[in-house]
Amino acid sequence: MLYDVIVVGSGISGLYAALTAKRSGLNVALICKSNPLRSNSAVASGGINAVLKSTRHDSCRDHIADTLKGADKLARFSAVSSMVTGGEEIINDLLSMGVVFDCNDEGDVAQRPFGGTKAKRTCYIADKTGAAITQTLLVQCRKEGVKLFPNHMMLSIATFKDKMSGITILRRRDSQVIAFACKALVLAGGGYAGIYRGHSTNSQESSGDVIAIALRAKMRLSNMEFVQFHPTTLVGSGTLISEAARGEGAYIVDETGERFTDELQTRDKLSRDIVLHQLKGHTVYLDFRHLGEELIDKKLPSARKHALNGAGIDILSELLPITPSAHYTMGGIWSRNDTSTDMENVFACGECAQSGVHGANRLGGNSLLEAAYFGRVAGTQASIAAKKGVFHPIDYAQVAKELRYVDMIIEGESRFNINTMRRNLGNNLYKNAGVFRTHDSLTNALEYVHYLMKMSSGLCCVNKERSDNVELMSIIELRNALTVAESMLMSALAREESRGVHYRDDFPQSDEKNYEVDTIVRRLAGTFLRITFEGHLSSDWWHRIRKFFHTQIG
Ligand code: FUM
Repeated sequence: MLYDVIVVGSGISGLYAALTAKRSGLNVALICKSNPLRSNSAVASGGINAVLKSTRHDSCRDHIADTLKGADKLARFSAVSSMVTGGEEIINDLLSMGVVFDCNDEGDVAQRPFGGTKAKRTCYIADKTGAAITQTLLVQCRKEGVKLFPNHMMLSIATFKDKMSGITILRRRDSQVIAFACKALVLAGGGYAGIYRGHSTNSQESSGDVIAIALRAKMRLSNMEFVQFHPTTLVGSGTLISEAARGEGAYIVDETGERFTDELQTRDKLSRDIVLHQLKGHTVYLDFRHLGEELIDKKLPSARKHALNGAGIDILSELLPITPSAHYTMGGIWSRNDTSTDMENVFACGECAQSGVHGANRLGGNSLLEAAYFGRVAGTQASIAAKKGVFHPIDYAQVAKELRYVDMIIEGESRFNINTMRRNLGNNLYKNAGVFRTHDSLTNALEYVHYLMKMSSGLCCVNKERSDNVELMSIIELRNALTVAESMLMSALAREESRGVHYRDDFPQSDEKNYEVDTIVRRLAGTFLRITFEGHLSSDWWHRIRKFFHTQIG
């Protein structure tokens, strides 16, 4: 099949990109590997940051400064600035599509405080913001004629003479490998926090597939070591209890009822405070009891529901035990401000991209804004590229090779248990590449990943059915997860300092001289990876502006 633009991923960035490309009159397909509503965007509940005309005591300048400060000197000023100044337009656009944001008594869009700022900047729909925006965008995509392909898993970027010519796809219905041709491709397939299986807020699908695919296609990855742990998730399941809870005034306490930390500091610092407190033998809880039923049911209904369903706890009268879990990944496919990547006519946006806005630590509420803003940019840029571009032929030798790969997984003898391997990977990463890490712990994790890589070549399906073979997709996901884990761990080993969410016990200080730069992962011949550090602030002008902001905010 031929499409002007193909978008991979059905979170907010993918939906926005598809809609934008469609609105420019093009033939657009959106591919996603499962149900389009299963994305990290739909899980991000607390809200979307924007400075609105009606916002009191806030400004774009403050939003930029907070974002740069939260990012611990690794954000790209130009990317942050364009996203922040585009914030109000995104909210207005979403309103015009029918997103029903909660309103204040004056009838303006209501805003709540989130971590890393004193301003009320986060627009919300109770604590279901991401899901509500995703649903609206999905309906809009359907209405406006974007062709949706759920249950289609991208396998690789198809190339002809080094030019992108489309993508190869595993069709879940019959396990066939098919190819779609396109003139422009948008990668919006999400991040990789789900590889911390059992210790992650992400859905099971979040295995970093498109990031692994991009690396195999010789595109650069960047800042892969920066994995954000959300401070408040349910013990045992990793279910997210939104930052909205703390924004609305819930406390973090220990078993004595004592508050021991600032609930609205950035997630990196708060997660460390919580883990350190746990290491001293304390149990950590969210305390909602003083908020009252009316506020909880109006503004935090999901938190109440998750606590009841996931932990059997009624937050109106009981403390809710919480712990940090992997939530968001700042690293991803290296991309420019216009979402272009190393490969011509391939664009990346949303969590799979290292867009330059989050640096070493993302502020809560900035991911939905980033997804919407850069999704729209990617849709625009892909449309321009498609209008100028041509179709390149699909190389059917590549399709046949992938068909053999899939056949081998289905037909081979099954020797290992996929679920155990996934779970063990998650446990090992959480222990060794978690909130705190050292050279030894990261080396241990890397050795384990290499061991699993060897084992995974003998990982085949127990279920030999070709229709709806979920096990087949899980095996491919695990192989992608291992590729991503290797990049992440090698980057974390190379960055011998502490910055943002990357805290090395053996290098507890930040090292401005050597590491105030992005980490870059390249795939060399074979499967070897090379890690380097490269500045994104090559122009002195940007450097001076960034310095100005850092001196202003201390
Ligand atoms: O806590 C939350 O609601 C998550 C929001 C986010 O990651 O931006």
